[in-house]
Amino acid sequence: MSEDRILNPQLKNKIMSAEEAAALIPAGANVGVSGFTGAGYPKLVPVALAKRSMDARLQGKKLKVSIWAGASTAPELDGALAMVDGMEKRLPYQSDPICRRRINDGDMEYTDIHLSHVAQLAAFGFLGKLDTAIIEVAGITEDGRLIPSSSVGNNKTWLEIADKVILEVNSWQNLALEGMHDIYGVALPPQRQPIPLTSPGDRIGEPYLRVDPDKVVAVVKTHSPDRNSAFSPPDAASRQIAGHILEFFTHEVKAGRLPPNLPPLQSGVGNIANAVLSGLNEGTFENLTSYTEVLQDGMLDMIKSGKLTCASATAFSLSPDALAELNTDLARYSRNIILRPQEISNHPEIIRRLGVIAMNGMIEADIYGNVNSTHIMGTKMMNGLGGSGDFARNAYLSIFMTPSEAKGGEISCIVPMVSHVDHTEHDVQVLVTEQGLADLRGLSPKQRAKVVIENCAHPNFKPALRDYYKRAFERAAGKHTPHLLDEALSWHQRYLDKGRM
Ligand code: COA
Repeated sequence: MSEDRILNPQLKNKIMSAEEAAALIPAGANVGVSGFTGAGYPKLVPVALAKRSMDARLQGKKLKVSIWAGASTAPELDGALAMVDGMEKRLPYQSDPICRRRINDGDMEYTDIHLSHVAQLAAFGFLGKLDTAIIEVAGITEDGRLIPSSSVGNNKTWLEIADKVILEVNSWQNLALEGMHDIYGVALPPQRQPIPLTSPGDRIGEPYLRVDPDKVVAVVKTHSPDRNSAFSPPDAASRQIAGHILEFFTHEVKAGRLPPNLPPLQSGVGNIANAVLSGLNEGTFENLTSYTEVLQDGMLDMIKSGKLTCASATAFSLSPDALAELNTDLARYSRNIILRPQEISNHPEIIRRLGVIAMNGMIEADIYGNVNSTHIMGTKMMNGLGGSGDFARNAYLSIFMTPSEAKGGEISCIVPMVSHVDHTEHDVQVLVTEQGLADLRGLSPKQRAKVVIENCAHPNFKPALRDYYKRAFERAAGKHTPHLLDEALSWHQRYLDKGRM
């Protein structure tokens, strides 16, 4: 494809400025955007929309829209619209600080949804009607097919169900992206058929997105980089957590419960996840694969070193340095990387079939193994559950990890009862902190409590947890999952009142 990235004559006729395109979006509209963890989100139209919203505010009017995305985006989208109070509602995942503040101040609505569920909920109309889709693409072929950008997310669904479509064609995106995607759609129930994907490297769809050209109301040219934050180098706790997980994998391979090259890996984002991946990169496991949601720095390093032969994801989630490196040499990675719609990257059927190892971060876990991934002190939204639930429930091995303490030791991340439940005890098989690893598979609640307290809690909080469990067992009406209901959440209340659990 030549540097002219808009080859289709009909769509070429619709080129206009971001301001003109943004003017086509009515107040109150539901807007479906591309974008997943700072990759492939529209860069100019949302900013122009935010400016319109600001202008309306200066005239004493309101212009708000609801934003449906793949997952989080970046300051030019979530940040800009939240800053001007231009967002009525957001779904299904965000991680923007201004957005988070508005959600927690009660100024905007937020629906936190399993990422694999979004396309189906939207297609059946449970989220409302999708007025406009704003989708970043890397180019448009002569026959009107769209070369997807650095994430796929829910783009296929948005393009299908939106009344009108705005395309941002970003010439900053590397054209070597062409061919890297595998766009496959699942029919809605009751027409749904098995998804014929049996290995992470399978290609079952086509490399392009399609759109009805008559629905396209604007094509906007952009040249802007994706934006993600840099990762800090793994700290001591992250390295210890990684060490426990690698030791556990080695043990499981020896016991014959894991194959020597491990099942496909899913890894959440963040420093701990990157530490685990860099541990794997330096370790003895070979011929690894991943079936995951986002492809982060650690996985790129593993592809480079030859440890990871294939990575399937829905988006890149790379630090600026890793992104720059990928972009200079993208063609080299194209054999090893496949980007899919998030409905497929996170599909329960495939996660279960492949026997994925899921590794995700958490806010806190309780002594019985329930996990809170989203809420600080039970009421404040952090980011959202993202794909953690898609993977946790369906993985062969579901691991949750966190440092044992937060906020300089004032908070224990192992508590008597979690202040919010995202993953129930039934979906959590392994808990890991820098203190150690608790393998909860097959254990009863009482057995779990002992292993979680002894292996995962910080020594500063262990005596209080042992004391809680002992008294709960003595006094609780039921001895199956013993709790003192008047005390179970008192640790959180104490932190809110006194700044220490
Ligand atoms: N109580 C209160 N605050 C806590 C806490 C706890 N138990 N544990 C952590 N925190 C705070 C930290 O102090 C930090 O606060 P700060 O931003 O003010 O510094 C913040 O929460 C983030 O903690 P950190 O240790 O940096 O976490 P992280 O970057 O590893 O992210 C999650 C952890 C849970 C927030 C993150 O993994 C997440 O959003 N998970 C849900 C989505 C998911 O799993 N996606 C992957 C699926 S593919």
